[in-house]
Amino acid sequence: MRKRLRKKLSTALSWEELNQIYNSFDIIGDIAIIKMPNANPVNAETVANHIMAVHRNVKTVFAQNSPILGDFRVRALRLLAGEDKTSTKYRESGCMFAVDVEKCYFSPRLSHERLRVAGMVKAGETVVNMFAGVGCFSIIIAKTVGQTKVFSIDVNPTAVKYMEDNVRINRVYGKVIPLLGDSKEIINAQLQGKVDRVLMPLPEKALEYLPYAVSALKKRGGWIHYYDFQHATRNENPAEKTKLKVAEKLDSLGIGYIFAFSRVVRSTGPNWYQTALDIQVIS
Ligand SMILES: C[S@@+](CC[C@H](N)C(=O)[O-])C[C@H]1O[C@@H](n2cnc3c(N)ncnc32)[C@H](O)[C@@H]1O
Repeated sequence: MRKRLRKKLSTALSWEELNQIYNSFDIIGDIAIIKMPNANPVNAETVANHIMAVHRNVKTVFAQNSPILGDFRVRALRLLAGEDKTSTKYRESGCMFAVDVEKCYFSPRLSHERLRVAGMVKAGETVVNMFAGVGCFSIIIAKTVGQTKVFSIDVNPTAVKYMEDNVRINRVYGKVIPLLGDSKEIINAQLQGKVDRVLMPLPEKALEYLPYAVSALKKRGGWIHYYDFQHATRNENPAEKTKLKVAEKLDSLGIGYIFAFSRVVRSTGPNWYQTALDIQVIS
């Protein structure tokens, strides 16, 4: 599929444009989103039409017109081709997710990470997802792990509405509990000392919210899945830089911990990376 698209695009675009665009679009259900800040409008529409011709299931193509912004982590979109609609349904790891790609955060590029974390959760665990979006991490955990309960917090009312729909669609009633609000307030009010595992999939706030993640864990300790954006030159290791930052914070809190695993999830720009850290907190 990708090869066919590349061939088609090579007739319309310069080599430079082709390389830029080829790696910078996502397909979410029947919606494609292209990041092409420097392309001229004619090229953008050509690319959109080619995507629709090759990916027959795609009904709508948007250009992403802004970076991911604000507390809700959303982006501005401009219609390039097809139906003017922003909600769709997306399949991942045996689950189905309804999502509005303009009003909620969503990235198919985290699919491996979602499955990796779900694979670590043991039956009977209680989990809190502090930045749950439309519920992807939480629902994949609930679907793959027996007798688990995942408190799934998000501050965006639209994301929580979609999360509630996704709980119904995937029949994980009672296993995923959608909660609307600021995760630090919800943890302080209801979840202190209650959970075995905390997910923190919001790099921009993870360090600030780390003390609340620790306070949600049971007295005997547990796991924190921490995400970061990290700048690193060729000679630097982005995951090691994240470890240094997190170690400083945990040391200042007097917490015992082990960095059990770390990885680079993806590159997010020149010399910028998203990193993941699995932290085992020891009582
Ligand atoms: C990067 S997205 C999470 C994506 C999600 N885990 C997934 O796999 O699709 C971060 C989410 O955190 C939410 N958010 C931002 N600040 C928050 C806060 N203080 N408390 C709870 N949720 C928050 C945003 O609305 C957004 O949906």
